[in-house]
Amino acid sequence: MILYKEIKALQPALQPLRAAGKSIGFVPTMGALHNGHLSLIERSRQENDLTVCSIFVNPTQFNDPKDFEKYPVTIENDIAALEKAGNDVLFLPSVTEMYPDGTTPKVHYNLDYLETILEGAHRPGHFQGVCQVVHHLLNIVQPNNLYLGQKDYQQIMVIKAMIRQFQLPTMVHAVPTIRENSGLAMSSRNMRLSNGERSHATAIYEALSGIKTAIQQQPIARLEQQAQGYLLQHGFEKVDYVSICQAETLLPATDADKHLPLVALAAAFIGPVRLIDNLLLQ
Ligand code: PAJ
Repeated sequence: MILYKEIKALQPALQPLRAAGKSIGFVPTMGALHNGHLSLIERSRQENDLTVCSIFVNPTQFNDPKDFEKYPVTIENDIAALEKAGNDVLFLPSVTEMYPDGTTPKVHYNLDYLETILEGAHRPGHFQGVCQVVHHLLNIVQPNNLYLGQKDYQQIMVIKAMIRQFQLPTMVHAVPTIRENSGLAMSSRNMRLSNGERSHATAIYEALSGIKTAIQQQPIARLEQQAQGYLLQHGFEKVDYVSICQAETLLPATDADKHLPLVALAAAFIGPVRLIDNLLLQ
């Protein structure tokens, strides 16, 4: 694996490969890598001549400064894991490399209602920051294929909207969520959980699975309420939302929509950590 910290070194390395018709797959991350991230690398390796991974804890997408300060950084382990996974190129920029003129956004991304629901409603500015960094990374790497995890369901829709707005020549691929045996979705933020909190955290998967089992039998509003109650009874302190939505649009589902593809999404706090998860219901 070759590691680049500077854009001016990375770009001339990729350019001849692109000119030779090699396909480039790209996996952007914030590091503290786990098997979820590595499954994206694996998928990119299967489908491309060259895989580029980036590790950059992007300050502009953290609406909570404490979350940014406490975000886990495990760079040596990450490099070892990427080597082992057969990743070709790691891009590891500094904040000044990414934002030499400061972090103030220059562009407004037209995310429409996607920015006012679910994560958008609870994390003001978060998706503008995600678009800012992913747009910049796509301009730097210019990949044919971009691999994103279904774990961040709304993020995929937001990044697709950004790619449409700027007509970028990159195809987005959604990769299924990798879970622990307990059902807990792998997440870098799980590292901040105590053992006790980690065992309680599986309740988020159980609550979503409960919705999946009962979706055709019970009204949507009741299922959402029951799932919220379940989280609060099983160690979560605060629930931002449990919401059943249309899978293609993320608009709230009604009881008349049960023939459509649906997705249940949740965000809740356990100890100091905010976890999100989702489950397709069909
Ligand atoms: P990060 O949380 O590090 O996630 C990087 C990628 O890994 C995202 O596409 C995410 O959906 C995927 N991922 C995380 N957990 C996963 C799991 N358990 N199974 C499968 N995929 C999983 O998402 C970000 O970083 C940032 O917002 C980023 C897109 C890099 C922009 O800064």
